[in-house]
Amino acid sequence: MLEAIGGYFELELRTGLTPYPDAVGFNCARSALTALLEASAAPCLYLPYYICQAVVEAAQVAGSRPKPYAIDMDFELLQLPALKADERLLYVNYFGLKDTYVREVLAPRYGDRLIVDNSQALFSTPLPGISTLYSPRKFVGVADGGWLANPPERLKELPQSQSRDRFGALLGRLESAPEEHYLAFTEAEKALAQAPVSAMSQSTRRLLDSLDYAIIADRRRDNFIHLCEAFDRDNLFKPGVTAPQVAALSYPLLLGSPAQAQYVRQALREERIFIPCYWPEVVNAAQSPNVERLLAGCVLPLPVDQRYHQEHMQRLIDRVHWHMATC
Ligand SMILES: Cc1ncc(COP(=O)(O)O)c(C=O)c1O
Repeated sequence: MLEAIGGYFELELRTGLTPYPDAVGFNCARSALTALLEASAAPCLYLPYYICQAVVEAAQVAGSRPKPYAIDMDFELLQLPALKADERLLYVNYFGLKDTYVREVLAPRYGDRLIVDNSQALFSTPLPGISTLYSPRKFVGVADGGWLANPPERLKELPQSQSRDRFGALLGRLESAPEEHYLAFTEAEKALAQAPVSAMSQSTRRLLDSLDYAIIADRRRDNFIHLCEAFDRDNLFKPGVTAPQVAALSYPLLLGSPAQAQYVRQALREERIFIPCYWPEVVNAAQSPNVERLLAGCVLPLPVDQRYHQEHMQRLIDRVHWHMATC
């Protein structure tokens, strides 16, 4: 088709800012994983117990048998399995805090049989030759999208996804309270989960190409440092020791019991401070080992994102401390 000249404007966006210009774009990170596994014909994929079910299903769609592995309280593998030539191991860079472990332990041992899942680590750059997944909407305001950095050679051509029906919650939250649009958000997520493996839509690609990633990373880093100073002493996991200066997904506050975590989460929700749970299915699954069940039930991922400044962090700190003390 000839390129259009003139007529009305599209949404006006800057260009040229995407952090991973060589990555292949998908409609979500699950699709990137399915496409990667199909292209590499891996019969088996080692996956952590501590992961969302959607990733397990993405491996099954590709015909790879998931083999679960256990982690410790530092989010590191309890034992490093020996992989056969055609097997793969996926590791989640949890909260964006595990760069050093990936670089110094997993990458040297597994090389290109390692798949790094940076869905929680948008600002962790891919290591040479290691396939790496991203899910940018966990960090910035887009409705969908996934990247695969260092793709294999034989990826099949995919139809392009369309995102225009998924903008409701994003636009709604610009204009009124998030509670009013939460249903639209969950419906959009459900629709995305049902969508076939496809290429990233043009609208998501353009939006992701327009963001100031340096400012976003700086704000996240500052907020994260602030929460490390406030909580590391009481936290059973020490994010500030593991990764002191990171543009993290969130600050994982590991409390002593699921009941305490649930109490604090609920009390915060009543004050309109919203804390997700990663992942309820791990808490409930019969096969989850104790450590994973504890992590899923006791970690409060506190927001550190670019919408928030020092005064927001101070309110968060005060309220979490208050509810921890009154539990
Ligand atoms: C660790 C991890 N990897 C991958 C995914 C899948 O990302 P997407 O929703 O973009 O497919 C998720 C989803 O929540 C996740 O938590």
